[in-house]
Amino acid sequence: MTNPDKADLVILGGVLVSPDAEVRASIAIKDGKIHTIGAREAMPAATETLDATGMHVLPGAIDVHVHFRDPGYPHKEDFGSGTAAAAFGGVTTVFDMPNTLPTIADAESLSAKHKIASEKAYVDYGLYAVLGEESLEHIPSLVEGGIIGFKCYMGNTFGRIPSPSTGAMLELFELVAPTGKRISLHAETNSIMERREQRLRAAGRTEPIAHLASRPAVVAVEAVARAAILAEWTGARIHVLHISSAAELRPLAEAKARGVDITGETCPHYLLLSEKDYEKSGGVVRVNPPVRETPNQQPLWNALVDGTVDIVATDHAPHTPEEKTRNDIWTVDCGFPGVETQMPLMLTEINRGRATIRDYVRWSAANPAKLWGLYPRKGTLTVGSDADIAIVDMNRRWTIDDAKIQSHSKISPWQGWQCTALPIHTIVRGNFVMKNRVLNEQARSTGRSVHAIQRMPTPSPKNTDATMAAITAGKKG
Ligand code: NCD
Ligand code: ZN
Repeated sequence: MTNPDKADLVILGGVLVSPDAEVRASIAIKDGKIHTIGAREAMPAATETLDATGMHVLPGAIDVHVHFRDPGYPHKEDFGSGTAAAAFGGVTTVFDMPNTLPTIADAESLSAKHKIASEKAYVDYGLYAVLGEESLEHIPSLVEGGIIGFKCYMGNTFGRIPSPSTGAMLELFELVAPTGKRISLHAETNSIMERREQRLRAAGRTEPIAHLASRPAVVAVEAVARAAILAEWTGARIHVLHISSAAELRPLAEAKARGVDITGETCPHYLLLSEKDYEKSGGVVRVNPPVRETPNQQPLWNALVDGTVDIVATDHAPHTPEEKTRNDIWTVDCGFPGVETQMPLMLTEINRGRATIRDYVRWSAANPAKLWGLYPRKGTLTVGSDADIAIVDMNRRWTIDDAKIQSHSKISPWQGWQCTALPIHTIVRGNFVMKNRVLNEQARSTGRSVHAIQRMPTPSPKNTDATMAAITAGKKG
């Protein structure tokens, strides 16, 4: 006779981590959800039992910033290799950026990417749509078609997506505000950096550090402040991607203090790499925004700890070794893989005492779920939540070897970095996607889009009598 209370999986004796506590407890999973949390003796009978004694049991990371290049650039990455890399990194949900080929800019391209993702994904995902000069008419059908949010490139980027003018941004924010969707911003102002790059090129500067010179922090500071003003005016929700400098923290904190719905993210490379890495790794470290001078690092850590910066994501931006090692820095593709190494690198810093492991799950899982309306379904180990879990050995010494990562992109500035933590098993909705550092091939195509479970708070658009729609309808002026 089958026992209706029998669990599918019981994980015994690990240390469960939440933003508030670390507790030794066992956890039972049934039908993809967390069924019971408690003492070993309180666990129901189960089809499978995993002994996690000595391990830490974390909510799977939610990486809100990855570029999986599918469709368009399969030599760099595809949805299968990208989500396999996520699985190896303890990442159970990813939000994929729209700068693929084609750009995800309308219902048709979105629907095509949904098909690709559902056929290949090992982990759950959300898809971004681009918010550009030409996006106005597409906003309703993109929301209808199932997106996690919008991505607005204030600086030109890989995939040649032109940045919208401030005028277009204001109108775009007006239209997105009532949808409640969060707009994620690549906050670098194009006109400043383009001008500087031209001058540097004219001066014959082609060495790696010239990339940093072309994009001083003011490029980002100006963009964050301007975007915050537009969000404050329209009531649109915004998220500042990849905060790279200490100087951006002031406009971010000030906007938060004014009540703007603005959130911020930083990435391991801004916390751990510096100007020295342009010598060490050359063009490999080229990324937008650039890795900056060492004095930026500690303020970014402090901002994570005090909550000014809400989350850690990766900007996983895979390219090939050939694309990353060209002699002229201006021809080197920007970005490098990160989805697979974020958790080990960050937990290594946790082991060094830079913050607590509770802080880490706040940045990596709880906050991303909350900010995109997925909490408490995701981002937490709670009875009734999806069983999205990373089981981590916090005592594992190993060295990053780019040749061995899952991503198609076998080149990064993390080559040779020594870590003291490693995800050993990754579980998505109760199923192992990675077990004992081996990919579960059966889990391909089991990843699902999370847009259907997204519940954003009620939108609060502002200055609605002055929107472009209102004035052209003759309601004002
Ligand atoms: C990103 C990429 O390669 O898609 N590169 C990067 O340097 N961050 C694009 C981007 O976010 O600008
Ligand atoms: Zn990016």
